[in-house]
Amino acid sequence: MKKEWMACVAASLLLPGVVQAGTAADMQPLADKNGCFACHGMQTKLVGPGFAEVAARYKGDSEAAERLGKKIREGGKGVWGPVPMPAHGNLGEADARKLAEWVLSVG
Ligand code: HEC
Repeated sequence: MKKEWMACVAASLLLPGVVQAGTAADMQPLADKNGCFACHGMQTKLVGPGFAEVAARYKGDSEAAERLGKKIREGGKGVWGPVPMPAHGNLGEADARKLAEWVLSVG
């Protein structure tokens, strides 16, 4: 019983990311395929920051897309807390950059 309840809570925590990600129809499948939503909600923090929080933080930073694209590929920690983001070396540079630009456009 308790286990089912926990699963339900976990599912509802993940849901906002899944539902709202539909706004960028072409980017969501790429993010989904690469497991981004396991750790990021569109608005809210899961393991890593919500994508809207990331966009707000780097608003007006013209170099953010390049930096974040690199970080998505190589991983890193220390900006949002002690938990590291693992590297996504399987992503090509162009895809990582596209994902970074998309994250920065989330509001
Ligand atoms: C295993 C969990 C995990 C996965 C999977 C993951 N991330 Fe992260 N992500 C994190 C954590 C934790 C941080 C915060 C790192 C920090 O504090 O520097 C983060 C940070 C970020 C940031 C902000 C970086 C910064 O320096 O401000 C972006 C953008 C990002 N992730 C995008 C993505 C994308 C796109 C994907 C899918 C390709 C992805 N993440 C997959 C955990 C994850």
